Amino acid sequence: MKIYMETYGCQMNVSDSGKITHLFAEQGYSLTETSSDADLIVINTCSVREKPELKIFSALGRYIPLKRQRPELVIAVGGCVAQQWGDKLLKRCPGLDIVFGTHQLDSLPDLVAKVRQSRRAVSVTEFLKCPGGLEVMAIPAAGTVSAMVTIMQGCDNFCSYCIVPYVRGREYSRPSAAIIEEVGKLAQAGIKEVMLLGQNVNSYGLQEKNEISFAELLALVHDISGIERIRFTTSHPKDMSDALISAFAELPKLSPYLHLPFQAGSDTVLSRMGRGYTAADYLEKVEKLRRAVPMIALTTDIIVGFPGESEADFQKTLDMLEKVRYDQIYSFKYSIRPGTRAAGFEDLVADEEKRERLARCQGFQDEISQEILAAQVGSVSEVLVSGPSKRGAGEWSGRTGENRIVNFPAPAGIQVGDLRRVKIVTALKHSLKGEVIT
Ligand code: SAH
Ligand code: SF4
Ligand code: F3S
Repeated sequence: MKIYMETYGCQMNVSDSGKITHLFAEQGYSLTETSSDADLIVINTCSVREKPELKIFSALGRYIPLKRQRPELVIAVGGCVAQQWGDKLLKRCPGLDIVFGTHQLDSLPDLVAKVRQSRRAVSVTEFLKCPGGLEVMAIPAAGTVSAMVTIMQGCDNFCSYCIVPYVRGREYSRPSAAIIEEVGKLAQAGIKEVMLLGQNVNSYGLQEKNEISFAELLALVHDISGIERIRFTTSHPKDMSDALISAFAELPKLSPYLHLPFQAGSDTVLSRMGRGYTAADYLEKVEKLRRAVPMIALTTDIIVGFPGESEADFQKTLDMLEKVRYDQIYSFKYSIRPGTRAAGFEDLVADEEKRERLARCQGFQDEISQEILAAQVGSVSEVLVSGPSKRGAGEWSGRTGENRIVNFPAPAGIQVGDLRRVKIVTALKHSLKGEVIT
């Protein structure tokens, strides 16, 4: 039997898809790269903006007709769109067999077996106190150096624009003992870098009685031998504690890199977004971080054209880019999400205006990103080697602690997972070129 997986959305979805593949591998399925020879097609969806949400319908438009030639084919849709639509998705898309929600990942093998027997479509999307699937551990493929570990799921923040709390449910933190055990197993399997995942990792453990804090969890992960680098995402600025800032200075394996979404530079917009901080609060945290780790690289998320955002408000977003100097930004046009608080806001920004602001924002950032990369030329960085570069030409590739991509001619004896000192010789548009120092 063959399973074909299509994944949209954030790293948590990528990680969830790995878990699903693992569950089916245990049942004898192998992963196929082409939908046409699959016995089971699973689409793992994202509804954070309208654009990714719509992709599900074009995907189903491609896959459902395959059932004409292969009536035994089973098609399942999971993730955040499945959670949001529930059984309405079955009605809208005849031929779809399974809708499974964000807490039902581990029930999928049973649902597939049921559908194969009854040939009746099913939808299961209840929220559970403890989301199913969080304890499923995908075995990393041979030759992988990095692995993602979900430490918490859900969000209690309800930012006014955001659908995530509605589709992932309330915050739930996995027991720290289970996380430590999983990271230990990954280290034994040869993993050198772990990425701790959650919609809001800074509030890890706060909802559970007698659980440790996120900063304490980082210290425990740091003690695991074999793990050389630790990263995490995503952090909410309002929950960024002093203990977490100190962890960057105290834990050498914690990479000097942080994704810290600010969303908007105007306090009026931030307040209507319900973010719980001002631009000044955010900048103060950045200053503290840079005092603790002067070389720390930052990235961020930005929404342009939130309802009511004036040109002057938008300028304040550009001011933030200038002040913080991020390595990279992920910027989006505001997209109305049904059921969220902001969906009721009436002072919408015209699409044309949003597009224009997005282009200005990205153009402004491109220059900064370029300057930051250019400033690395001549420096020496420790690079975690991930393998031969996609561009070929005998080059290998890796990342610095600051998460910058470096390509370099491969010296004899180099191996995936090595930590090598590399001298940076050239800055390209999105990456660096270097030479390994032997
Ligand atoms: N938990 C993370 C982000 C999750 S969503 C956090 O709080 O930072 C990822 C990003 O999508 C957000 O940071 C935001 O920039 C963007 N986003 C979320 N809802 C959006 C919407 N309705 N329109 C446009 N962008 C949105
Ligand atoms: Fe969405 Fe805000 Fe929660 Fe992030 S913190 S997932 S933006 S509600
Ligand atoms: Fe998308 Fe769900 Fe992640 S909405 S961003 S896949 S949590």
